[in-house]
Amino acid sequence: MTAKRSTTPRSSRTKAPPRQSKNVINRLLERDLIRRVSYDEYRSKVRGVYAGPKGALLATCSMLSLHAPLGERLFRERKFDLKGARNLLDVGSGAGQIARHLLKYADAQARITCLDLSPEMLRRARQRLKTGWPTFLAADLSRLPFADAAFDCVTCGYVLEHLPDPRDGLRELSRVMVPGGRMLLLTTEDNFGGAWTSYMWYCRTYNRQELFRICREVGLLPRQELWFTRMHKALRAGGICVELVKE
Ligand SMILES: C[S@@+](CC[C@H](N)C(=O)[O-])C[C@H]1O[C@@H](n2cnc3c(N)ncnc32)[C@H](O)[C@@H]1O
Repeated sequence: MTAKRSTTPRSSRTKAPPRQSKNVINRLLERDLIRRVSYDEYRSKVRGVYAGPKGALLATCSMLSLHAPLGERLFRERKFDLKGARNLLDVGSGAGQIARHLLKYADAQARITCLDLSPEMLRRARQRLKTGWPTFLAADLSRLPFADAAFDCVTCGYVLEHLPDPRDGLRELSRVMVPGGRMLLLTTEDNFGGAWTSYMWYCRTYNRQELFRICREVGLLPRQELWFTRMHKALRAGGICVELVKE
């Protein structure tokens, strides 16, 4: 299913957000394509990257980097609890890495929607998950094709970094969530690991406190920061992982 909507977010027509202060290595490594071209051009680039060989290896990368197995622990140990969630949205599903956990740990009656910009990634996710349970939808995080308050639970793993301005995505996510709805947000951080991810995947990185401030601004309140492991917490190697609650 392909959603046809105009996809130019508001802020792409305005000025790009200011560059955050970062150390020299991060600045050299981090890609700035997202700031240099229009959002439409950038989005075509992202679609192309994920449609190609890198996208085909995405699931393997998530296993090797331990994101997939460590991510599962968050659901299995109910650090992010899916119990009681009725309408779940997984944004930027990629190869279905998070959707797989939703299928395993969500209630049997829950409705799951997997959304991604890349039809090719959705095809891969469908093939990997081998189930007709979720609905798969090609659309842009900055223009979600859903009614207000359609979901009580959202997962958004490593996709917000593909927007020039996070407000475009966060406002949309907030809009489609019910008051009290919960979201698990994972994204790149402005450290060496994040800069490397930016280099590999043409994305941006976030300053943790700055991102939380913007989340609050759009009515998504940080409830708890989550960590895959103690090492993740000490080294901040796995990026930002936070549970947000819609006001
Ligand atoms: C790194 S993968 C994340 C996969 C998975 N969610 C995870 O946590 O491992 C990022 C995915 O976001 C998708 N994506 C990038 N920009 C997007 C946008 N603006 N709207 C929706 N999906 C987008 C890409 O096509 C890709 O499949």
